[in-house]
Amino acid sequence: MSAPLVDRFGRVHRDLRISLTDRCSLRCTYCMPADGVPWLAGSTMLSTPEIVRVARVAVEAGVTEIRLTGGEPLLRADIVDVVARLATLEGEEGRVEVSLTTNALRLPGLAAPLRDAGLARVNVSLDTLDRERFATLTRRDRLHDTLAGIAAADSVGLSPIKLNAVAMRGVNDDEVVDLVRFAVERGYQMRFIEQMPLDAGHTWDRTTMVTQAEILERLRGAFRLEEVPGRGSAPAELWYVDGGPHTVGVIASVTAPFCGACDRVRLTADGQLRNCLFAQDETDLRTLMREGCTDAELDAALRAAIAGKKAGHGIDDPGFLQPRRPMSAIGG
Ligand code: 5AD
Ligand code: SF4
Repeated sequence: MSAPLVDRFGRVHRDLRISLTDRCSLRCTYCMPADGVPWLAGSTMLSTPEIVRVARVAVEAGVTEIRLTGGEPLLRADIVDVVARLATLEGEEGRVEVSLTTNALRLPGLAAPLRDAGLARVNVSLDTLDRERFATLTRRDRLHDTLAGIAAADSVGLSPIKLNAVAMRGVNDDEVVDLVRFAVERGYQMRFIEQMPLDAGHTWDRTTMVTQAEILERLRGAFRLEEVPGRGSAPAELWYVDGGPHTVGVIASVTAPFCGACDRVRLTADGQLRNCLFAQDETDLRTLMREGCTDAELDAALRAAIAGKKAGHGIDDPGFLQPRRPMSAIGG
């Protein structure tokens, strides 16, 4: 039996987030500039066998959950094959759970094949229910396609469906109640995310960001909320809406950081391991693998990267530096 992936603070790592591409079919203003960002070169992107190899070593070391992200993970041409291969990985605690975070645009065609390939569920980014706002926010007039994608995921049983909205002042902060109604009526879970300093345009401002307290205040004007106990290492804190069973979540990464319970580690599309969204350093697994490392060496590199993880992201520290790469290159 191998030792768990534990860091200096005793945090055991069970959740691997793999970015499959840095490209995206939307251009959300909080994530990318209008012209996109300089894309990763094709030769630096991990091949599917390379991704599966890192994942297998991680699962053998105790990872139980794999979340596929991007960019937009469904833009990867062989996405169904990637899911099929990852979903068969098995560790000491059984089969790994594979889920993905998506803008849903391609789900109408992919939901059924992905479910058949072993995908467990999806998280969909949905910041607004208003067509014009969606077009302004994502710079693409595709609200209809996102909604169709969500419905497709639901109809094939990729549930529970979680919807994520980044709360933004003057953009969608007046819509939090409507978004929760939309989700509750359909049996989805709405989750609001405090905006983090990850945008390629470096426009984030602590003093204007919409906080968890503010989101809850708005929601309490329309619903009765009761805290759900037993959060574990989940980033979202949950509340029952009007007595349940439906819940709403808030991911308060900035005002109530959950770094103390973090069990996540990330692999970028170009094969760099990041022990935190906000890490300044990365571990180059791509070069290691392409130079012919053994699985034991890969395992050691994974452990060393996790051992070096900092206690927290330090967004409030005077010396805080935004990561050099934007969110689209790191992976949610
Ligand atoms: N702050 C918070 N969440 C963000 N996301 C993208 N950029 C940011 C940011 N700066 C969210 C997306 C998506 C998830 C992967 O991360 O909305 O739901
Ligand atoms: Fe694409 Fe997600 Fe970034 Fe929006 S937040 S541009 S959906 S990667």
